[in-house]
Amino acid sequence: MTMAGRKNTGSASVPLLVLLSLGFFFATYNLLTIVMRNRAVIRSVADDSNRKLLSDPILEMPDIMQKQKTSGSPLHIALTATDAPYSKWQSRIMYYWYKKKKDLPGSDMGGFTRILHSGNPDNLMDEIPTIVVDPLPAGLDRGYIVLNRPWAFVQWLEKATIEEEYILMAEPDHIFVNPLPNLADGGYPAAFPFFYIKPAENENIIRKFFPEENGPVTNVDPIGNSPVIIKKDMLDRIAPTWMNVSLRMKDDSETDKAFGWVLEMYAYAVASALHGVKHILRKDFMLQPPWDLHTGKKFIIHYTYGCDYNLKGELTYGKIGEWRFDKRSYLRGPPPRNLSLPPPGVPESVATLVKMVNEATANIPNWDTE
Ligand SMILES: *[C@@H]1O[C@H](CO)[C@@H](O)[C@H](O)[C@H]1NC(C)=O
Ligand SMILES: *[C@@H]1O[C@H](CO)[C@@H](O)[C@H](O)[C@H]1NC(C)=O
Repeated sequence: MTMAGRKNTGSASVPLLVLLSLGFFFATYNLLTIVMRNRAVIRSVADDSNRKLLSDPILEMPDIMQKQKTSGSPLHIALTATDAPYSKWQSRIMYYWYKKKKDLPGSDMGGFTRILHSGNPDNLMDEIPTIVVDPLPAGLDRGYIVLNRPWAFVQWLEKATIEEEYILMAEPDHIFVNPLPNLADGGYPAAFPFFYIKPAENENIIRKFFPEENGPVTNVDPIGNSPVIIKKDMLDRIAPTWMNVSLRMKDDSETDKAFGWVLEMYAYAVASALHGVKHILRKDFMLQPPWDLHTGKKFIIHYTYGCDYNLKGELTYGKIGEWRFDKRSYLRGPPPRNLSLPPPGVPESVATLVKMVNEATANIPNWDTE
């Protein structure tokens, strides 16, 4: 999660207020056109596709199925990012590891696009393939910057010619630890199940956006939009709904309060369910140090949690450790090269993460100067 918020302007002048309301008008107008255009396709996507496999999501696939139940079609990596220093250094590391893993056996990784949703080109345009899209009009994101993600995808899908049939929605704090195959299966996209996304336990709220006629709340998968591997035409249909649902959720104070910083994840889960899309849930899609101890055969390291340890190698989560790696220590600029490795006893996943960060920063030119 990118948690950097947008600065509030101190005192709003009259012209600014006029601009703001214009912005709102423009946004609503745009949204309505998009939504009207897509209303016709709010129907069961799954109807089109093979209903053969799943009525329940696959929580843990048996090893033998994991071996190669993949479609083998190349997937385009789509990284949503901003021009904040915090987003930039993570994106550079992310792209470095994409290049290293892309051509290895087992990879279905195709092209790469950083979808830069802060509205202007930045100094990484030559380093990372990038497309610039607009942020939401001022004020509409209410300081919750990740609301820009659905809007970024809507614009990108409209603008870009994407060669691959599948898309991976990725975030800057993802590192490819193993070559990523296409985990989707035709009409079934693949997603990582997050333990803290609990549609069934939030039935009253989910129902505001997912009325009974759409079926049981359990149709809403315990996921966010990332990481997800999905067919492009499906995402085309889901993205405008996702945007609409996230804005409506943000507008509803009860929902905003209940979902907090994971609101936009719920919005994707609900939007895809509104289209009748069910995801294959892959626990091996991603690992999250320090909770997951081994990288094993998993594909993406997600370094969203701080890793704090004492020098005996014991986790001191929530308390600043004698040794630590936490992306939030580097909100204003990149971490230095050659971070110290963790003390003995720290899980392999954490050591691997720091080594991979170090390898990237050692090899990316002008690391400290950007
Ligand atoms: C979202 O969609 C609903 C139902 O289609 C529509 O009534 C509403 O106006 C949309 N909201 C926005 C902000 O566009
Ligand atoms: C990295 O730091 C270690 C000490 O933590 C040092 O021994 C090593 O020489 C450094 N490597 C480089 C390439 O600077």
